[in-house]
Amino acid sequence: MATTRRSFLTAAGTVAAARGAFQETLALNGGPKSVTYSPARASALSKWPRYGAAEKKVLHDLIDTGKFYDELPAFEKEWQAYTKAPFVKAHMNGTSALTSMYFALDLPPGSEVMVPSYTFFSACLAMRFFGLVPIFIDIDPKTATFDLEDAKRKLTPRTKAVEVMHSWGMPCQMDAISAWAKEKGLILLEDAAHAHGASFQGKKMGTFGEMAIYSFQLSKPMPTIEGGMGMYRSRSYYERAAAFGHYEDPVKFAADSPVRAYEGTGFGQKYRMHPLAAAIARVQLRGLDERNRITRKNVQALNGRLTQLAAVAEPKLTPDMERVYYTGNMLLIDFAKLGVPRDTIVKALKAEGVPASFWDYPEQHKLKIYSEAKWWHHAPKIPASMPGNEWVNKNHIFIPCIYGEAPDLIEQYAKAFEKVWAHRKQLASA
Ligand SMILES: Cc1ncc(COP(=O)(O)O)c(C=O)c1O
Repeated sequence: MATTRRSFLTAAGTVAAARGAFQETLALNGGPKSVTYSPARASALSKWPRYGAAEKKVLHDLIDTGKFYDELPAFEKEWQAYTKAPFVKAHMNGTSALTSMYFALDLPPGSEVMVPSYTFFSACLAMRFFGLVPIFIDIDPKTATFDLEDAKRKLTPRTKAVEVMHSWGMPCQMDAISAWAKEKGLILLEDAAHAHGASFQGKKMGTFGEMAIYSFQLSKPMPTIEGGMGMYRSRSYYERAAAFGHYEDPVKFAADSPVRAYEGTGFGQKYRMHPLAAAIARVQLRGLDERNRITRKNVQALNGRLTQLAAVAEPKLTPDMERVYYTGNMLLIDFAKLGVPRDTIVKALKAEGVPASFWDYPEQHKLKIYSEAKWWHHAPKIPASMPGNEWVNKNHIFIPCIYGEAPDLIEQYAKAFEKVWAHRKQLASA
């Protein structure tokens, strides 16, 4: 790119800022902290969940009226209107929604279901109750989501379904994945446990495949403490999944439903969502888009600065994705390229007042239960390595999201990073 007067001045400004940042001693070495914002106010801005007077009121009101079970159909109706899923069913958590989904698949034992290894245990493990076999798929290190190229390599004649997971609120590349699943005749499933409010090409996550699940567990973008939702494109999947853990549902289905005769028993589980959780869900859903909007705006303001720094990137979005942020703002940092170990960077950021952290997702394929054939109808194949998982686990940090208006705190977090990066040579040799 040609150097214009403006780009020269911007570059000169950045160099001057970096020089200024370098001249200040790191807080780690006794210098002043970059973040002078009140710690109590900063932690209140990042506190999760965001419950308030409205949640307290609905719980009190419900205890007074005693109309607990009315909350369930009311929440299902509102969630369906929000996501535009053809059929939905509330469950007691994401795990029970997943288990019901695998029952609904009704596939012969030994059928393979592709699933990321970088995920929550129940997404893989609940398959074993129905003789299904998880085929572990890697993640793309640029996005931390489903690696379609790895799925293509692992396709076998036994593969019947493919389940993607929208890690940390990042939509998977649903156009390419849907097209491939269609071409190969695979049933597309989505684990949208992290992605409340996220969309791809204007469609909410959980509406691309035949079935999907959400979790409303406490840490999730729409928390009800515990709770889950199943989403279904067809009436038959919906009825089968609902009947698995809802003995009271079959009688509500039309006379020709194959599961109608199982009224009073369902198929042996009781997976009803707690009505108080459904009441919280209805309040949380009303504020979901606004919470996501503020969070996104704050992350973008901060990451616009941080991604200028050496070896720092954020998970790569395409313009047709609207992501949300589950758990925090995950940055992908190539620590080998930076030349400073992650522990040192985190320590230096913490000393500056940025509560940076990291959390490595347990890779499912490495866990004991998958390697013991006795738990499985057909034992899963354990891949030798998953380079995408390993890279993301080793090369990320999380910064807490800021859920309120706080431009000065964002500025101080950015300054802290710039200061630490300006000292990276010194940190590398420490
Ligand atoms: C990706 C993913 N899938 C499914 C679940 C299961 O949800 P729950 O905890 O509500 O059972 C979780 C929970 O953390 C999750 O992270």
